[in-house]
Amino acid sequence: MLNLLVNTSPEQKAFLAKVRLAMEQYFGEDQRRIDHALQVTRYAEEILAYIEADPVLTLTSAYLHDIGIPEAERKHGSNAGNWQELEGPPVTRDLLARLGSEPSFVEQVADIVGHHHTSCGVDSPEFRVIWDADALVNFAEVLPEKSKEQIENILQDHMETEAGFRIASRIFIQDTESHRRCLKGHRPAILL
Ligand SMILES: [Fe+2]
Repeated sequence: MLNLLVNTSPEQKAFLAKVRLAMEQYFGEDQRRIDHALQVTRYAEEILAYIEADPVLTLTSAYLHDIGIPEAERKHGSNAGNWQELEGPPVTRDLLARLGSEPSFVEQVADIVGHHHTSCGVDSPEFRVIWDADALVNFAEVLPEKSKEQIENILQDHMETEAGFRIASRIFIQDTESHRRCLKGHRPAILL
């Protein structure tokens, strides 16, 4: 999957592959969580092509952003955002320490994981990429039911990066609009 859009060295690619594997092993049979993390990482990669941010910090955080969910569910019986933010950082530290990461890098990832449900939780481009990438995946479950005006308002309000906003508009407004036109039998001329 990595890395057509973002410039990373072979060493960085190898490290990110280890992070992905650690995430997959941690989630075990929970394929839904794994698929979500991979989708968020893909969108983060896409946004990174348009924004200046540390790709290794961003993509590591993308893989691990929901890593607190199993402990949140086990200890608190809930995967609510606040429990994820509480339980994610210790798991992140443990996984990254096993991979030999520098403590300062580990803390930066833990900081993003520990705030990823809090708007403007970390004032950094890497956090903003994760925020938007996660939204791009999660919005797919709720936005298709809404009107164009509602979607525009939600995206204006929620998206933190220009690239994230444009990608979201393409997916949830333009694509949905052409889909609706097709359903109504009013296909755009170019498709006829
Ligand atoms: Fe997520």
